[in-house]
Amino acid sequence: MKGKVCIITGATSGIGFVAAERLAAMGARLVLVGRDKARGEAALAQIRRQVPGAELRIHYADLSRLAEMNHLAAEIAALEPRIDVLINNAGAVFNERRVTEDGFERTFALNHMAYFVLSNRLKERLIAAAPARIVNVASDAHRGQTLDFGDLQSAHGYRGFTVYGRSKLANILFTRELARRLAGTGVSANCLHPGFVATRFGENNSGLFRLGLGFAKRFFALSPEKGAQTIVYLASAPEVAQRTGGYFAQSRPATPTAAAQDDGASRRLWEESARLANLPG
Ligand SMILES: NC(=O)c1ccc[n+]([C@@H]2O[C@H](COP(=O)([O-])OP(=O)(O)OC[C@H]3O[C@@H](n4cnc5c(N)ncnc54)[C@H](OP(=O)(O)O)[C@@H]3O)[C@@H](O)[C@H]2O)c1
Repeated sequence: MKGKVCIITGATSGIGFVAAERLAAMGARLVLVGRDKARGEAALAQIRRQVPGAELRIHYADLSRLAEMNHLAAEIAALEPRIDVLINNAGAVFNERRVTEDGFERTFALNHMAYFVLSNRLKERLIAAAPARIVNVASDAHRGQTLDFGDLQSAHGYRGFTVYGRSKLANILFTRELARRLAGTGVSANCLHPGFVATRFGENNSGLFRLGLGFAKRFFALSPEKGAQTIVYLASAPEVAQRTGGYFAQSRPATPTAAAQDDGASRRLWEESARLANLPG
């Protein structure tokens, strides 16, 4: 990975932070994306301590806001003529429904729209560095879910984990369509399930929801180091250089649900997302 440019969102915590540290140790030049300055500076300092001489910088954006997704992509594109790896990782579960200034339900905005907008807006930079890779952090939480195209913003019967699972289904459908559209460019797109991991995931919530998740993490979860392994694998392993459109878990190909392999839904999600983001379809 020596000298390769890797962009990683959600790099200030959990599996994103560990993946950034690993890739920096492998010699990559890291462009971190965070949203909080204090947490960002702490992440930079910790990576520099672990990997002396690491080449790093950080950008800040609230990735649930379309204006900030666009601004971040423009800022990165202006500084990086070639991008070798884009890792879309920032994500969260929200127990209460809230709508962003763009009219998006916030899980959909952060977990899906940010992946869609950054990948599209940085596509030319990835093609310029081909062979290049896009890695999308999805989840087995997609199992049992389907997308309701009549209610993508989950206005009806909101339940945090259901909506989260749908956003992770969207990650897999998006990856398939992205891979199809990038065919022949030398840019691959794959996604993954990191396992159930003891990160800060869920801690933005309160009450029983947060307590229950905290309890489960304490007894059943993997370490962030283990959780980051498949991200690093898809970002760097030579044996997956030619793979695209796949879903991986434990650094091996995995089979997502039938709903996640529905090419009609992939195409429709792409078209809806492009319309919502004001990007060409
Ligand atoms: N943990 C699990 O069991 C698990 C399982 C399957 C999939 N995943 C997926 O793994 C990915 C990483 O999660 P994690 O477990 O490492 O959780 P985490 O420790 O909570 O890290 C989430 C990261 O996303 C950032 N983030 C959250 N909201 C943001 C926003 N509005 N704008 C910009 N950045 C934002 C956070 O920034 P701050 O540091 O400022 O909070 C943090 O860096 C997510 O996509 C999640 O869905 C996790």
